[in-house]
Amino acid sequence: MNKKIAVIKGDGIGPEIVTEAEKVLDKVGEKFGHKFEYTDVLMGGCAIDATGVPLPQETIDTCLASDSVLLGAVGGPKWDTLPGNLRPEAGLLGIRGALKLFANIRPAKLIPALASACPLKEEITKNGLDLVIVRELIGGAYFGKRDTHVDENGVKHASDSMAYADYEVERICRVAFEMARKRRSKVHSVDKANVLDSSRLWREVAHKVAAEYPDVEFSDILVDNTAMQLVRNPAQFDVMVTENLFGDILSDEASMITGSLGMIPSASLGEGSLGLYEPIHGSAPDIAGQNKANPIATILSVAMMLRYSFDMAAEADAIEKAVDDVLNEGYRTGDIMSEGMKCVSCTEMGDLIAAKI
Ligand code: IPM
Ligand code: MG
Repeated sequence: MNKKIAVIKGDGIGPEIVTEAEKVLDKVGEKFGHKFEYTDVLMGGCAIDATGVPLPQETIDTCLASDSVLLGAVGGPKWDTLPGNLRPEAGLLGIRGALKLFANIRPAKLIPALASACPLKEEITKNGLDLVIVRELIGGAYFGKRDTHVDENGVKHASDSMAYADYEVERICRVAFEMARKRRSKVHSVDKANVLDSSRLWREVAHKVAAEYPDVEFSDILVDNTAMQLVRNPAQFDVMVTENLFGDILSDEASMITGSLGMIPSASLGEGSLGLYEPIHGSAPDIAGQNKANPIATILSVAMMLRYSFDMAAEADAIEKAVDDVLNEGYRTGDIMSEGMKCVSCTEMGDLIAAKI
């Protein structure tokens, strides 16, 4: 098969980690007889430097004309003082919105070879930790009406409104229930229905969708309780579905408790097969350009691309197995290094994984 991939290398370590992911993808192409064509496009800080805006129209057009989008990471201190709508992060929100990617899939799994990096006590993780956060990505406070103004008394006000329509909740809940059916058949819908109107709507719609999936065990859980349960007993979760901001926060917590932020991929999906795939970590400007970054989250993001956008399950399995094998042989990048292991660079890690395909 021939697939067109729009590539947003982005800022900081973005270009380094994406290069390794392309290396692995090319190897998959060679082995399985596919051709992956890459078109580099600009977004984030590098786009601001080159064009004055974080998301040029040309980038949107190229992404829409591609079969999928691969993203490294965007942002850095250089652009931190720009106004909100001109920051690199605005480019990320813009592309999610422009491609209508409403479902963000963020797995958090304890990798046996890295279990010692998990900050939780063994008695808590002995039952495993393997959950997926399904985060609504183009609604809520991120996309609601916002306002900053100074009133007649000179007092400054700012607001962001967390707004949802029923159909937005319904479609993301469906993604979660479908996913649960392929996993352990359990969905937790996370909200703050004891306080927020938007959460009361969320809960009402979640229940309606749940009724269509009697085979899936379903419960509501408040977001503050969820944050607590994640460190108390993470094994109780299989699929968690939640609104944009709650999902942003909980997915950082979930990734941290696996002990391997540098290992976690993500997929952002819409109605069709076009998706955007990126590691969940940031652009790590402090180590950019030093060949030290961990490319595994980006490489695993490419595996998700093969699975979700291209329907290439065997190819995705091959990448995931290659990553496991390399870790089991004791190779580590600096961020996941531990005693007795072999520390390798970003390019070496890419080479090792590609060689296993
Ligand atoms: C994420 C990030 C983004 C978000 C930022 C960079 C805009 O934290 O993908 O989780 O908040 O969605
Ligand atoms: Mg985040």
